[in-house]
Parts: sequence; C-alpha cells; structure tokens
Amino acid sequence: MAFRDMREYLAVLEARGKLRRIKKEVDHTWEVACLARWMYQALPHEQRCGLLFENVKGTTIPVMTGVLGASPEVYSIALGVQPEKINSKWVQALRNPLPPVEVKTAASQEVVHTGEQADLNSLPIPVWTPGKDVGPYLTCIVISKDADSGEQNMSTYRTMVKDKNHVAVNIPTGRHGNLCYESYVRKGRPAPFAWVIAAEPVVHFAAVANVPYGTDELVVAGGLKGEPIEVVKAKTVDLMVPANAEVVVEGEFWPGEEGSEGPFGEFAGYMGPVGRKPIARITAITHRKNPQYYGYISQMPPSESTVIQSLSNSGIIMKMLFDLGYDSVKDVHIDLTYGGLLAHGIVSMKSQYPGHAKRVGRCVANETSLKRVTMVDDDVDIRDTMHMDWALNSRVNAKHDVLVIDNVFTSAILDPTVRVHNGETEPSSKLVIDATEFAHAGEFSVPPKEMMMKALDTWKEIGMPEFTIPKRTQLILDHKVAAKGPISRG
Ligand SMILES: Cc1cc2nc3c(=O)[nH]c(=O)nc-3n(C[C@H](O)[C@H](O)[C@H](O)COP(=O)(O)O)c2cc1C
Repeated sequence: MAFRDMREYLAVLEARGKLRRIKKEVDHTWEVACLARWMYQALPHEQRCGLLFENVKGTTIPVMTGVLGASPEVYSIALGVQPEKINSKWVQALRNPLPPVEVKTAASQEVVHTGEQADLNSLPIPVWTPGKDVGPYLTCIVISKDADSGEQNMSTYRTMVKDKNHVAVNIPTGRHGNLCYESYVRKGRPAPFAWVIAAEPVVHFAAVANVPYGTDELVVAGGLKGEPIEVVKAKTVDLMVPANAEVVVEGEFWPGEEGSEGPFGEFAGYMGPVGRKPIARITAITHRKNPQYYGYISQMPPSESTVIQSLSNSGIIMKMLFDLGYDSVKDVHIDLTYGGLLAHGIVSMKSQYPGHAKRVGRCVANETSLKRVTMVDDDVDIRDTMHMDWALNSRVNAKHDVLVIDNVFTSAILDPTVRVHNGETEPSSKLVIDATEFAHAGEFSVPPKEMMMKALDTWKEIGMPEFTIPKRTQLILDHKVAAKGPISRG
C-alpha cells in the first residue's frame, strides 16, 4: 500500500497496534528524548512502537518519534511490505525509478510564514541528548540542489537551531549536501536548502539511501511508492519540496557565513564534537493547518536512525551486487547497531569458486561505508545473532578467513576510533570475514528432519509450549551436504 502522507500512514500504524498516543503533558526540551530512549534501551523490538506525544508543553503541535523506525516491523508497515520483502522492494524500486510530479497547490503550504514571521521557536523541536546537546536539533529530511546541473539532492543531516531564524547544518566534506552547498559557494551565490518534516514514509526512507551523487532521492522515493511523489515550488528558494509534508522550513546558506555547531549526541553512541559549519538564514516556514512535528531519535544505538538506515541501505547493496553480476548473492543485512554508516554488513551467498566470497566481501567493503563485512553461506539466517555467532565460530579460521583493508579514507569523524586529537582524524581500516564453509565439515549433528517433525506430535501431546520453528532451525533441518563438498578456501 502506498501512503499519500504521514497522516494516512499513522492511521494504519495505529490500526496495527504500533502507534502509542501519549496524552500526558510532556516537555520537548528533555522528556520526549528520555522516554524514547527508554523505549529503545529497555524494550525488545517486538514491543516498540511509534510514539505520538499529543500534549506538548507550550505548544499545540503534537510531536512524534519512532513512527518509521521503532523496529523492522514498523519500517515494513511504512514500506507496505512484509519484513522479509524489504530488500526485494528496494531492488525493484531502484530498477524502476519515478521522477516527481509538480502540483500547484500543496497541503504543506496551507499556512505560509516568511521574513520575521518564520520563527523556528514556533516549532516544538526536541533536544535529543538533554543535558549534553548544545540545544534543539532538526533531525529530518534535507533538500539541496547542485548549482551546475540543477539536480536536487535529498538526505538527512543533523541541523542545529542557532536562534529563531538561523540554523547550522552538519554536512561533512564529500557529503552530497556539501557538494551542493559548494557548487553555490563557487559561484558566490546563496545555496537554497529546505528541511522537510513528516512527508510520506518512502520519502524519509529514500533520504537516507546511499545512492550516487546526481541521483535525486525523490526519484528513488517514487520508485518505492510506485507513483510519482508530488512536489511543489518552495515559496522563497529555488527548490521543489514534497507537497504532502507536515512542515517545510526554507533557507539559504550565504557564502562565508559559518559558525560553531555541536556538541550533539551521535549515532556511534558518543557525543559528536563541536565544529565550524555553514549557517543558513531561514527564509520561510510553511505548514499544514494543525501540523504535526516529527523528529528521528538517533544517538546511542539502537535507535530509529539505525533502524531506517540499516533497512534502507541493505537493498541498495544487494542491487549493486546484482548489477556487478554477483547473482549468487542471496541476501544482505546491515546490523541494527550503527545503521548505514560504519556498521556491520552481512551477505549470504552461494560461493561458486575459491575466493568468491572474499571477492564479494572486499567489493562491499570498498563501495560502502561499512566497517565490517561478513560473508556467509545461504544456510545461515543472517538476522539471527545466535546463528551468525555459530557460523563465525564453526566456519572461520582467523589466519585464513580474515582480511584487513587498511588506509581507508573516511570523513567519519564520528567514528571514535579514527579521532586523533583536536578534531583531526587518521585513515580508517575495514574488516572482511569469510565465514562461508570451506572444509568438508560433513553433516549437521541433529536428527533427520522426518524424525524431528514426527517428534512434534509427542511434544504437543505432552503439553509442551507451542512455538514457531525458528528460521535458523528450519535451515539446519533442511541442510544437505553438497555432492561435491563445499568450495575450497580462496
Ligand atoms: C537522524 C539522522 C541524522 C543524520 N545526520 C547526518 C549528518 O548530520 N551528517 C551526515 O553526513 N549524515 C547524516 N545522516 C546520514 C545520512 O542521512 C545518509 O547517509 C544519507 O544517505 C546521506 O545523504 P547524501 O549521500 O545525499 O549525502 C543522518 C541520518 C539520520 C537518520
């Protein structure tokens, strides 16, 4: 199902029992973040849900968080597929991109504030690591544009509220938003930016997708939705923005206008350092009548940020491997700790020749910002940490199966392991582990499947608890020793 906007999606999320409305008054300057942090820290993902704070101190605007990335299940509802179909949905979307379509009137512009009326204090922007962050931060979609090609870019960058009409944005060198910004600086012109709060779910997912520069993520979002995303001309800057969003903040970065940004609690679990970043002048705030505010909770993993980045980028890696001809790849999963950047990527495949798995692993390590890549056979459930640990113990001999790729450029100052001093970084390194089977290890030490299934009748009869057979166990019971034995180590 393709959702027209966040409201339509929230109704479905609620009907599925995955949205919690909180009626008690809460304070967005600390309490929203602390409550959401408890949810991610203390509840298993099956119990997590989107949080909608309806009664926020000092405002009539409700605040939501976790509504897209409380858990893989919530993400899959937003994407409109079963959890096991997330990767194939992404592959299909990337193969069928759809450019946005312009509309003349937009819900996101029902109310327009420009000039002095465009006041960020009118929005309940949360403080995400209260007591440690410098202040409130927008954690939402960011749209920019390349001055030379005219192509738009969509991402998500933490954005510090400096005062009622200025923000500082964290766009490190090499990031696509930075390339857009620099393209205007070179011409001595102000760079147009827009911050989009609560658009249709696929727009949010596309905004964290690592696709090449020059690909407008709104086109990817159209592929995910299966129909073009409706966009409208922004009121004060030369950008097209989602027509069905709750709120859009428009602004301009004038060349040379910079200031301090941070500290801000970051996805690696540590406080991100203070740096000098471009400062934007806010030129307009447009919104629906009775808007709702949405901010991602990131910081200490697991978080909404890690869930949506992991799940959005696994399918992108899978598509890349298919395009390179690695059809023997079966599945890709990025673990839910760090999300897309610096995380652990796991690839399952049918290895066909010596060195095949290492070759694919090295390719993934080179082409992504993942710090670790583990290769396994397709008889392992790559989302099951117990099964993964079994593969790492029973199929890895560190001397032969572990590669360290050294001297990797990374702009990720947020990785605490590459910080040297004074904000300087040293080159990083990556780990590739080949945990595909190499020796003729023989049969698994479990009874044959027929016996195990027959024993389930007795299990029921004697009143043992009911269960669903874990995927791990299904794979173990279905395992057959290959006629020729596994591929030898390469
Ligand atoms: C809540 C949240 C905050 C993020 N903040 C930043 C950030 O400040 N800077 C950054 O480079 N990436 C950040 N990311 C990751 C980027 O959004 C993501 O890697 C995206 O694909 C980058 O887009 P780009 O390739 O167009 O630059 C954030 C992601 C999330 C979910």
